[in-house]
Amino acid sequence: MTDSHDSNPAIENYLLEERKFEPSTDFKANALVSTANIYEDAETDYLEFWASKARELDWVKPFDKVLEWNPPFAKWFLNGTLNASYNCLDRHVAAGLKDRVAYYFEGEPGDSKSITYGELLTEVEKFATVLKSLGVKRGDIVAIYMPMILELPIAMLACARIGAAHSVVFGGFSSNALSDRINDAESKVVITADGGNRRGVVIPLKDNVDEALKSSPVVESVVVVKRIGDKHQITMEKNRDYWYHELMDKVTDATGPVEVDSENLLYLLYTSGTTAKPKGIMHTTGGYLTQVAYTHKIVFDLHPNEDIYWCAADIGWVTGHSYIVYGPLANGATSIIYEGTPDFPDKDRWWSIIEKYKVSILYAAPTAIRTFMKWGTDYLKRHDLSSLRLLGSVGEPINPEAWMWYRENVGLEKCPIVDTWWQTETGAIMITPLPGVTTTKPGSATFPFPGIRAEIVDEQGQKVELGGGYLTLNRPWPSMLRGIYKDPERYQQTYWSKYNEKYFVGDGAKIDEDGYLWLLGRIDDVMNVSGHRVSTTEVESALVDHPSVAEAAVVGANDATTGQAIMAFVTLKSGELGTPEKGEELRNHVSTKIGAIAKPKMIIFTDDLPKTRSGKIMRRLLRDVAEGRNLGDTTTLTDPSVVEEIKRKAAANVTED
Ligand code: WT7
Repeated sequence: MTDSHDSNPAIENYLLEERKFEPSTDFKANALVSTANIYEDAETDYLEFWASKARELDWVKPFDKVLEWNPPFAKWFLNGTLNASYNCLDRHVAAGLKDRVAYYFEGEPGDSKSITYGELLTEVEKFATVLKSLGVKRGDIVAIYMPMILELPIAMLACARIGAAHSVVFGGFSSNALSDRINDAESKVVITADGGNRRGVVIPLKDNVDEALKSSPVVESVVVVKRIGDKHQITMEKNRDYWYHELMDKVTDATGPVEVDSENLLYLLYTSGTTAKPKGIMHTTGGYLTQVAYTHKIVFDLHPNEDIYWCAADIGWVTGHSYIVYGPLANGATSIIYEGTPDFPDKDRWWSIIEKYKVSILYAAPTAIRTFMKWGTDYLKRHDLSSLRLLGSVGEPINPEAWMWYRENVGLEKCPIVDTWWQTETGAIMITPLPGVTTTKPGSATFPFPGIRAEIVDEQGQKVELGGGYLTLNRPWPSMLRGIYKDPERYQQTYWSKYNEKYFVGDGAKIDEDGYLWLLGRIDDVMNVSGHRVSTTEVESALVDHPSVAEAAVVGANDATTGQAIMAFVTLKSGELGTPEKGEELRNHVSTKIGAIAKPKMIIFTDDLPKTRSGKIMRRLLRDVAEGRNLGDTTTLTDPSVVEEIKRKAAANVTED
């Protein structure tokens, strides 16, 4: 553990939490899982447990071996073949569910439509034909940079249908970030839209693609969905850019699903690590689909013919990949896709969507919940939320106050809450309550999912039975990352080098006397801002990239709404002045380099940064300054007076929104 967590009184309070909530008799009566036997079943033979879940998918050729484990490299469901889009679409249509709604789409401006499983299949079959006509082949990686519209899952599934992988880049990322990801994956095709809607303003996605392609010569074709139309003009480059609707109109034949190996790459998703370069996390087909489908069913107690499920994340993040696209579709669920933000046109937008579609399951992030708390309950009271029967939380630790508020005001005291811990790398939920089984405690993610083994260990790797330490995963799981794209060494180094054969998560955690797990946030140089991962190093590199900056140190400071806020300590080159305008310029520079999510909340100009004798920047001290704490031991500093100066500057010389 780093001291930053131990010294946080809010986190210490977690272990004092004594409220407990048992599943109600009503909920238990209809729950898919209502006894704890499932944990024992899974422990008896965890490989057979997962194999039985894998058999719930449709395989072309059945697998003949469950797991091949050459640490740290795993293969699941060996020699089996299948197709992810077939499992998400064709098999439901074949089972007579063609008229079931797959998605209700709610556009930010208020337009809405629905698409059935039958219609979704037709669109995917056609777009797969389009991809082939653009030369996309098995094994290619297609870049997707889109708003939250139906063409996004269509594009993803069309890739899977022809054995190509997708690399979805969140629409909030900048053209620079997009270009880096296109180049790393050598994507020849990019799928985008003319723009997306956000708080009534157009996000110029196609303009960003044009900018990105100036440094991504690998791209041969760009497919553009018309989402905005006349309101935002774009330029279409001849023989490179094609309108989605024009290509689709020309399609005459439907493309069927190709048979791929269980270990065929399904997608890459880039996530921030502790260095400036994002990691291309690799997920493959059979194991990933098995675990996302099964966890989606059991954790959310999904009754696919009754529930209306809404995961209010963006598909650009792993939450959306696993719990808007692959999990729900594999289970034949009916889901909501919402394009916009919670406060447009007013702060009751979510509650109006829940009322309109009679949403029964809501999966959201603590940062959203804390924002709603701030806005007050009047917005909720305008709407009928009685359709809700289960609530989920994901992305960051949920503080007990937010948990209780969620339970009382959104769940109307009757909905169980599942606080689900997982990561881009784990692919699927790993630590969570089971809503019909687990007695929950506000703020605890409770126990590992059946078949998963998670342990808290100390610095030496010894198991901690009570108290805090590092979270590790001690057994392979089907949806685990298969590596970092083109960088097996970094994979080994990042996750498997600290402890032998234990996956190092990067989160601190505590275990209480009842065996409940409490996640405490990242212990590495990764920040969690509104449930999104941002690397301190990446922001530092973006700052140092600015011609005025000599040196920068970035830390995440606790923030009541966003979980963490990005604080940047910057030393300017001589002759440069740390004016508020300069601060603004630097914040915008980071936004241009990475994306708005990485924009520092504050820039603190300082003549020097506190360093150890070996030259390492002492982030702990900077975090203490940023969070206004008294400073601990500063004796290892080369120049303790630096800290005093920074404290003064932090109080006086800041820029903020
Ligand atoms: C990091 C992973 C899982 C999809 C969204 C984020 C934090 C995630 C929880 C939770 C406490 C959580 C961890 C983790 N995190 N869920 N329920 N309680 N912390 O995916 O961007 O890969 O980030 O998010 O710190 O390591 P990600």
